[in-house]
Amino acid sequence: MRRAFVFAVAVLLILGGTLFAGGKQEGALDIGLAMPESHVARWVMDGQKLKEYAESLGYKAEYTLADADQAKQNKQIEDYITKGVKLLVVANINTGVNTVIADAAKAGIEIISYDRLMMDSADYNYYTTFNLKKVGFLQATAIVQALKLDQATSAKPKIITLFAGSPTDNNAYFFFDGAMEVLNPFVDKGVLKIVGPYPRTSADKDNFQRIATEGWRAENAKKRMENLLTGDAKDVVLDAILAPNDPVGRACIEACMNDAKYDTIAKLPIVTGQDGELATVQYILEGKQYMTVFKDSRLLAEATIKLADAILKKQTPSIAGTVKTTFNTNKKNVTTYLLDPILVTKDNVKKIIIDSGYYTPEELKTIGL
Ligand code: BGC
Repeated sequence: MRRAFVFAVAVLLILGGTLFAGGKQEGALDIGLAMPESHVARWVMDGQKLKEYAESLGYKAEYTLADADQAKQNKQIEDYITKGVKLLVVANINTGVNTVIADAAKAGIEIISYDRLMMDSADYNYYTTFNLKKVGFLQATAIVQALKLDQATSAKPKIITLFAGSPTDNNAYFFFDGAMEVLNPFVDKGVLKIVGPYPRTSADKDNFQRIATEGWRAENAKKRMENLLTGDAKDVVLDAILAPNDPVGRACIEACMNDAKYDTIAKLPIVTGQDGELATVQYILEGKQYMTVFKDSRLLAEATIKLADAILKKQTPSIAGTVKTTFNTNKKNVTTYLLDPILVTKDNVKKIIIDSGYYTPEELKTIGL
């Protein structure tokens, strides 16, 4: 009798536990996090950090990566809508996202444009990102310092070539324009010579297209660098390469290292980057890549989820550590929160990226640290 009772209680507990766990798992998804691609490493961390912060505030959240394929991301977003999310955080690929964003808005879902501004849409109100022009400003400032452009003469000008990000990404225009505002005056003085196409600003669409890296794919940049080395840059020694992010920077470096003119680390041009990728941390320590612009995904994720929380609770957002401004999508002004990017070279890479715990000890081990 007693054994039967214990058995019955045990069965009830197990059943109850299963039902409870099942109920919890089937609980509606609150926040859908749509990240664009994994061939640029940062987005995996962005997805993870966003999910962690959302969960720490009690929201159920999921993230997806879309292989730089807008159709694929649209399916992922439609899936979030079907699952009944209350809020979407989207780093899009191109304007093909706008149809699903319109559907989400119609369904009453709140939307935050994450890191990249979704252009030509009037269906959302918020944007979180880093100061985009400052990213380019920091890249160019590092070139000015490394090449000592202030002391260069027109008799012996320094030589540079230009790369930009994906023309489908609104950010790419801001990064480039931020850099060229710093570099153009040196070109005008005759102390800096550009080989290859030279758009003075991104408004020169034809030349911008020529230096752009479609889909932010490193293999496209590597091919273009190889063509430059046997073409426009054949008879010169490059002093620097303006590269918009780390994968593009490393692709340029790899292409250079296969060219006899740059076959040792000391002979490599000054190469810029962005994101503080693990492989670039290694390149910076080895002296192959000169700098990166560190945009701490932990901070952007935290700011974005704080904003999401305020929106969902219908409170007035006040996001510490950001500058509030507006960006225009061509269709409307959206409230924007900007974080500050940081210039990282060999001098501060340990402090800013390694010691700040951005990468786990296991990750650091993979680059010999
Ligand atoms: C981001 C960069 C990133 C690039 C490629 C841009 O929109 O701001 O951090 O390197 O996309 O994924």
